[in-house]
Amino acid sequence: MQYSILIVFMSFVASFNYLPEVEIDLSIEPKQRWKQAIRIIIEQYGYENSFGQVFEFHNKNTFYILDPQDYSTIAKAIRIHYPEYSLELDGIVEELNRSEITFEYLSAWAYFHEIAHISTDITESTGLLLQVGDQIIHGRNMDQAPIQARNIILHLIIKKDGQYLGESVEWIHYFIKIQCCILEENWRFCIPLNKNQLMIFIEQGVSSLAWTYRYILINENMNTFDKVVSYLEQNQVASSFYNVIGGKEKNQGVIISRDPFIMYPTISLNTSILNQINYQYLVQTNYDHWLPDPQNDQRRTMAENLLAQLQIHQWNEFGVFAVMETYPIHNEGTFYTIIMNAKYNRLIAFGQPNMTQIEN
Ligand SMILES: *[C@@H]1O[C@H](CO)[C@@H](O)[C@H](O)[C@H]1NC(C)=O
Ligand SMILES: *[C@@H]1O[C@H](CO)[C@@H](O)[C@H](O)[C@H]1NC(C)=O
Ligand SMILES: *[C@@H]1O[C@H](CO)[C@@H](O)[C@H](O)[C@H]1NC(C)=O
Repeated sequence: MQYSILIVFMSFVASFNYLPEVEIDLSIEPKQRWKQAIRIIIEQYGYENSFGQVFEFHNKNTFYILDPQDYSTIAKAIRIHYPEYSLELDGIVEELNRSEITFEYLSAWAYFHEIAHISTDITESTGLLLQVGDQIIHGRNMDQAPIQARNIILHLIIKKDGQYLGESVEWIHYFIKIQCCILEENWRFCIPLNKNQLMIFIEQGVSSLAWTYRYILINENMNTFDKVVSYLEQNQVASSFYNVIGGKEKNQGVIISRDPFIMYPTISLNTSILNQINYQYLVQTNYDHWLPDPQNDQRRTMAENLLAQLQIHQWNEFGVFAVMETYPIHNEGTFYTIIMNAKYNRLIAFGQPNMTQIEN
C-alpha cells in the first residue's frame, strides 16, 4: 500500500493547475462585488465553455423540478430576507448580460445544494482531518459536474475595510477558511424534503448552505472554533449534509451531521474510534459514519486504511495530499484538492484533472 500510494503520488503530482486568485472586497457596493470575478472567468474561457454549459447541464439535471412560480417564490424570499445578497445577484445578472439569466434564475442557484438534494443523487467530495501533535491538517477534494464547472472555480480572497476576512475556493461557497477555522461541506444522502417543504423553508428565510458559511465569515462573534461548531450544530438547515471543521488547536476537528429535522451527535478527533497512539484522523464522504460504506463507494474506508498505515515521514501535508490523490478518493469528478493547516495559516489549492482507474 505504501508503494502504491507513492506511485500514484509520483504519476499525478505534475498534472494539477493553479486556480486564478481573485480578491472580493465586501466594503464596496454590493452590485459591484462579483463583477471582476465573472469577467475573469469569461475572458479566460468564454461564456459557453464556463457558465453557459454549467447552466445548461444543471437546468436539465437539477432545476428541472422547478416551475416558473417556484423561481419567483425563491426570488421574492431572497429580496425580503437577504437584501444585500440580492443586490450582489443583480450585479451578476448585469455582468452576465444575457436575457435568460435573470434575478429569478440566479435566485434558484443561491439554493443550488438544497434543490439538488431533491432532484439528483450526487456522490461528491471527501474531507479529511489528520491531527499530528497540536496541528490539524485538512484535506478536501471537491467532486462535481459538468466538466466546464472546473472553469468557474476561483480562489477568492475575501476582504472588508482593508482587513483579510478569509478565503474560499469554490464555484459556490461550500468551503471557506476564516481566522479561527476551516469549514467544508459534504453532501449527505438521506430521505429528501419534497419541493413544497423546501419552498416553505425558503419563504421563511432559512439560509442556503452557501450563505450560512458567508454569515460565519462576516459575523464578528463567530471568532472561535467552539462558537462556529455550536452554531453549525444548531442552525436551521434545508437539506442534509456534513460540516467538516478543522481548527488551530489540538483536538479541534469535528464532523457535524445535519438534517432539517433530526439531530445527530457530532464526532471529534478526541473521541474518534480511530484513535491511534501518535496521530488521529477523521474522514467524511457522503454517508453517515455510524454505517459502513456502501459496496460501490468505498472512499471513506480506503482513506481510513491509507491513513492507518501512514509512516512517520508522512504525518504532514504531503501524506494528506498523497491520500487525497489516490483513486477513487480522487476520481472522474474531482475538480480540485485543497490542503490546509489552520494553525500555520497555510492553504494550497490545486485545480485537478479528472482521474479514472489506473493499473499499478
Ligand atoms: C449587453 O448585451 C447587449 C447585446 O445583447 C449589448 O448591446 C449591450 O451593450 C450589453 N451591455 C453591456 C453593459 O455590456
Ligand atoms: C475526464 O476528462 C476527459 C479529458 O479531458 C474528458 O473527455 C471526460 O469527459 C472527463 N470525464 C468526466 C466525468 O468529467
Ligand atoms: C474534544 O475537543 C473539543 C475541542 O477542543 C472540546 O470542545 C471537547 O469538549 C473535547 N471532548 C472531549 C471528550 O474531550
